[in-house]
Amino acid sequence: MKIAVLGTGYVGLSTGVCLAEIGHDVICIDVDERKIETLKQGKSPIYEPGLEELLTKNASAGRLSFTTSHKIAINHADIIIIAVGTPQSDDGRADLGYLEQAARDLADNIARDSIVVIKSTVPVGTNDYLKQLLQVQLKDKVEIMMVSNPEFLRQGSAIEDTLKADRIIIGSDDQEASRKIQEMYRPLNVPFLLTDVRSAEMIKYASNAFLAMKISFINAIANLCEAAGADVEDVSKGMGFDKRIGSAFLNAGIGYGGSCFPKDVKALLHTSREYGVPFSLLRETISINEIQQELLVEKALKRFGDLKGKKIALLGLSFKPETDDMREAPSIKIARSLTAAGAEVAAYDPVAASNARKVIGDVITYTNSALEAAKGTDALFIVTEWEEFRTLDAAGLLDVMKQRIIFDGRNCLTETALQACRTVEYYPVGRPAVILKRDE
Ligand SMILES: NC(=O)c1ccc[n+]([C@@H]2O[C@H](COP(=O)([O-])OP(=O)(O)OC[C@H]3O[C@@H](n4cnc5c(N)ncnc54)[C@H](O)[C@@H]3O)[C@@H](O)[C@H]2O)c1
Repeated sequence: MKIAVLGTGYVGLSTGVCLAEIGHDVICIDVDERKIETLKQGKSPIYEPGLEELLTKNASAGRLSFTTSHKIAINHADIIIIAVGTPQSDDGRADLGYLEQAARDLADNIARDSIVVIKSTVPVGTNDYLKQLLQVQLKDKVEIMMVSNPEFLRQGSAIEDTLKADRIIIGSDDQEASRKIQEMYRPLNVPFLLTDVRSAEMIKYASNAFLAMKISFINAIANLCEAAGADVEDVSKGMGFDKRIGSAFLNAGIGYGGSCFPKDVKALLHTSREYGVPFSLLRETISINEIQQELLVEKALKRFGDLKGKKIALLGLSFKPETDDMREAPSIKIARSLTAAGAEVAAYDPVAASNARKVIGDVITYTNSALEAAKGTDALFIVTEWEEFRTLDAAGLLDVMKQRIIFDGRNCLTETALQACRTVEYYPVGRPAVILKRDE
């Protein structure tokens, strides 16, 4: 099938590459010339495991190409997939500006009947709104069939998640369009749920809000565990055995971030207000998360009294492991709070440092290894659970630090790693602190 994908971000690029991988003829388009130039050279502008290999493979096979011309891409395709950003606007609702522009780009260039698939995460009613917008602006008399096809991939495993998705949601009021989109995805051999447009739109927000709520719930339990002397790791393990609960998304830590959960929970809360349906659970989910992101700094303040002049190493900057994405990363808030309190911060992240510098700036320093970041510091903060930090030689790091203190925001360090430290003050989340004082 001939497909155009508008937007080569995490979702659009992963989708385009995977659709080419299953045999389709795909053109990806972006308004960002630098991105398209990079892609044309066979390089991925984002860090995403496995993406670049599939990109070069399919581009060489002639199934995948890139352009900045809407005309070329739209003329090429029978199916147009829109995967532009829907960021949060100031009042919490989803900003549809990029989508509205994409609709104008379509209207200017569509010359034959087409299926338009909205993959961006959009509030209930947006597909209907976009269809109206398109119909008003279309230059030629053509038929547009709309399909809502929300995306569930996770950054860090986007390719795997696309090729082996749990489900594909196809929301359309047009049977023919729905059938064509099933045909497009058929080689993936993934379960489909066919539904109406509004339910498809809602499924995406309901899923993300539910996952965010699970994280906030276990974080609230973690704080209670700390106060009551229980261990949240065992509590979540015990809960996870129950099939009705499940063990996924029950890891206590310093809260969720990223380009989806924060904005999607807020957008759903906004939708609930618009429809006059109270949903205070969402407000609590957000507020628990905001408090949780301050947890490490709060603990450090409690431990040191004052952070003025203290040197802190931050391990991990990206919002989660295996990505260089800094959108809404908890590290931003932490770095700003620490520097505002007068601390000096040295950070290390395996891939996100250059993106982090664009957001946090040079108020902190960026180093090339955990060891370099730790040198001469009073405390180590573990902020993102990169595998590299889970298997950290904590004893080696403590040896180069001024004080042997670790605040672990992701409960990365094992009992064995801690015992090897001999002397350490270790503050995890939702578990008792470990204070070891043994002769070297
Ligand atoms: N990132 C994720 O993990 C994820 C997962 C599921 C769903 N989503 C949703 O998917 C959508 C896209 O997310 P993303 O993270 O890929 O965004 P992104 O910001 O990484 O990428 C969007 C891309 O669209 C391009 N663009 C904007 N306007 C355009 C236009 N008119 N024509 C062509 N290109 C245009 C931008 O230049 C950018 O490269 C959002 O609605 C998001 O909520 C994201």
